[in-house]
Amino acid sequence: MSDPKKLFIRTYGCQMNVYDSERMAEALGGAGYVGTDSADDADMILLNTCHIREKAAEKVYSELGRMKELKTARPDLKIGVAGCVAQAEGAEIIRRQPAVDLVFGPQTYHRLPEMMVRADSGEKVIDTDFPAEDKFEALKDRPKARRAPSAFLTVQEGCDKFCAFCVVPYTRGVEISRPPERILAEARDLVERGVREITLLGQNVNAYHGPGEGGDWSLARLIRALAEVDGLERIRFTTSHPNDMTDDLIAAHGEVEKLMPYLHLPVQSGSDRILKRMNRQHSAEAYIRLIERIRAARPDILISGDFIVGFPEETAEDFEATMDLIRAVNYGQAFSFKYSPRPGTPAAERAQVDPAEASDRLARLQALINEQAAGVMAGMVGREVGVLFEKPGRMDGQMVGKSDYLHAVHVSGADVAPGDLRRVRITGAGPNSLAGALA
Ligand code: SAH
Ligand code: SF4
Ligand code: F3S
Repeated sequence: MSDPKKLFIRTYGCQMNVYDSERMAEALGGAGYVGTDSADDADMILLNTCHIREKAAEKVYSELGRMKELKTARPDLKIGVAGCVAQAEGAEIIRRQPAVDLVFGPQTYHRLPEMMVRADSGEKVIDTDFPAEDKFEALKDRPKARRAPSAFLTVQEGCDKFCAFCVVPYTRGVEISRPPERILAEARDLVERGVREITLLGQNVNAYHGPGEGGDWSLARLIRALAEVDGLERIRFTTSHPNDMTDDLIAAHGEVEKLMPYLHLPVQSGSDRILKRMNRQHSAEAYIRLIERIRAARPDILISGDFIVGFPEETAEDFEATMDLIRAVNYGQAFSFKYSPRPGTPAAERAQVDPAEASDRLARLQALINEQAAGVMAGMVGREVGVLFEKPGRMDGQMVGKSDYLHAVHVSGADVAPGDLRRVRITGAGPNSLAGALA
């Protein structure tokens, strides 16, 4: 028998791409490929790409330039481009970089083994369909390999909201929810392989409405059913839209013990004028009231968010409204980005903010968020929290895990193994992580 072929995957973008890359590795595993951590000795290189901001998309082309050098030295090397850049740009990718052999979008990677056969015979393969068949079903008979304690599980894909800045509705397509019984089966399978925490994924995860027993299930109903799975200790979900934060989902945060006290709820801006121009369909006040209701159900919940600064036509006053909203909410964490015009989206055609002014606003916003996040971390000192241990730390005898609030926690000299869920007393807060001792 010949040696197995080696597969190298580089993943960009959101957690859904991380999930998809795992599925691609499994699909190619069935076709005789084993994973490698180095592009240099790979027979097949896959870049699973992100199109959300221009920088993210351009990174792919510079990376492909490097991959082309490898291919010049080893002509048998196959190069594939997957994900959202592939979906958005299709054949253009091979035109810009002829060393690429395959281009396929987020909805067709279950066809990879068949695409590989075509690529091996010298064909350039492009598959950016939105097929009728279900890729999750096509891939469900996966190898029973042991898994890390924390796993992602995609439950919903695509988006119908069409925020004026965003490519997701174009690259991921219309919003589709997977049936709950398939999600529950996948969750049980993950638990059998050592998983104790599952993060439910969707571009718009709280819009979940999977067809199940007794009609469409809400995300809250799915979470309550998952909480019954023995051996599954923690449930999280991301990313949510404020307008889909229903009463039953808010109530679940107060009632379901396994649902962790952390919520990523992007608002993008605190200016009503900008929110309207973004097509977000809610006001700043409505968002702040929503956060109050969520905190009434679960007072200790850590709120995380996303912000875009320098959106077209954003004035100094609009930006101050965003800073006011941040002060009103007090975030434990947030991601913030300078607006990046994306071809084909409505906002790309509008009057752009001066880039230097946008950079200045971004720096001010990030300073405020960092201050709030540090305050939230300092507030953890002296408290007892749950920690799911994941791996050894950098120091001898140290283990690292994640707290209920998703903070990294270091514990030294304790008898714990990856997958252990233990109570930990927090003793100190650093810039990026907490330190603690078993309680
Ligand atoms: N579905 C999620 C977000 C998905 S994209 C939601 O509705 O919030 C992740 C984040 O990238 C967004 O929340 C937004 O903050 C940022 N983003 C999206 N498009 C962008 C663009 N054109 N320029 C800058 N940031 C952008
Ligand atoms: Fe993009 Fe999120 Fe808006 Fe959908 S809801 S268009 S994914 S930002
Ligand atoms: Fe990027 Fe596509 Fe995710 S554009 S953020 S990889 S949905």
